[in-house]
Amino acid sequence: MGLLDGRVAIVTGAGRGIGRGEAIQLAAEGAAVVVNELDADAGAAVVEEIASAGGRAVLDTGDVADVEAADALIRRAVDDLGQLDALVNNAGILRDRTVAKMSPEEWDAVIRVHLRGHYACTHAACGYWRATNRPGRIVCTASSSGLLGNFGQANYGAAKAGIAAFSTIVAMEMAKYGVTCNAVAPAARTRMTEGAYGEIPAAESSAFDFWHPDNVAPMIAFLCSDAASHISGKVFGVQGDAVELYRPFTSVAAIENDGARWEPRQLAGRVGELFDSSGIVAGAENMMAKLRYSMTPR
Ligand SMILES: NC(=O)c1ccc[n+]([C@@H]2O[C@H](COP(=O)([O-])OP(=O)(O)OC[C@H]3O[C@@H](n4cnc5c(N)ncnc54)[C@H](O)[C@@H]3O)[C@@H](O)[C@H]2O)c1
Repeated sequence: MGLLDGRVAIVTGAGRGIGRGEAIQLAAEGAAVVVNELDADAGAAVVEEIASAGGRAVLDTGDVADVEAADALIRRAVDDLGQLDALVNNAGILRDRTVAKMSPEEWDAVIRVHLRGHYACTHAACGYWRATNRPGRIVCTASSSGLLGNFGQANYGAAKAGIAAFSTIVAMEMAKYGVTCNAVAPAARTRMTEGAYGEIPAAESSAFDFWHPDNVAPMIAFLCSDAASHISGKVFGVQGDAVELYRPFTSVAAIENDGARWEPRQLAGRVGELFDSSGIVAGAENMMAKLRYSMTPR
């Protein structure tokens, strides 16, 4: 018996990388899966792989950021597979550049696929769950780049931090319908992170391949299942054999001015107290360097 027997799930950007592993894992747990992927050949290969393992999958080649295509994606799950139980928003792209050199096109492309893509698919799925009064599961894909900040990724990090906030808010709005919404910040060796996590180990190696993209999928299957019905609005880090829980942005220190508006020069004398009492560094910091795991081959 699988964790998702009788369920229907959509995974976006499921033709390769992390999404491919998610689609295959959800199918292995018993779900019928809509494999959404812009690259039709890559998507068809995943559908074929699921079918040859005895699972059920259909292909959708719509652009997640196109509202009509997103509506059609949700309809495809319902029309072809009977219902929709889980949406995994995974599709994404990178256009890395420091902000001073970043073109408007590089900014817009990344914001569009990630933020508009998350909105369009989630909007359509939530409309379906509201109208049918069915429970649902949404898993969004954030990134440590957005939660912590990563050099050269102002567009991507802004989108990914936005996705974490989006997920928290959707969780609140959809709670009364029995729909949960969580976000994961994965890390894995894919086309997107080529080179950052070392070489793919030789096939005969029996060592655990920490950065393998398929390592993300088990947590996604769990979050899509009934076993996770009590978890919503949370952000998890997932890589290798590690699952982490992120604390939301929260204030850690405060100064007050006896009920009066501050003068700027007073602040010049007092703001240092915030850093002293919290231990937070005042200048720009590489927060990614403070991750619990190292971004190096292992
Ligand atoms: N790989 C990592 O370490 C890492 C880290 C943090 C976050 N992420 C996120 O995980 C997700 C998957 O990344 P990946 O590393 O597997 O990348 P990938 O490039 O291997 O796969 C992404 C897939 O999404 C598809 N896609 C892109 N735009 C699309 C669109 N508009 N509509 C439908 N499909 C589209 C691509 O064709 C591709 O097959 C992304 O959201 C990414 O930002 C990855």
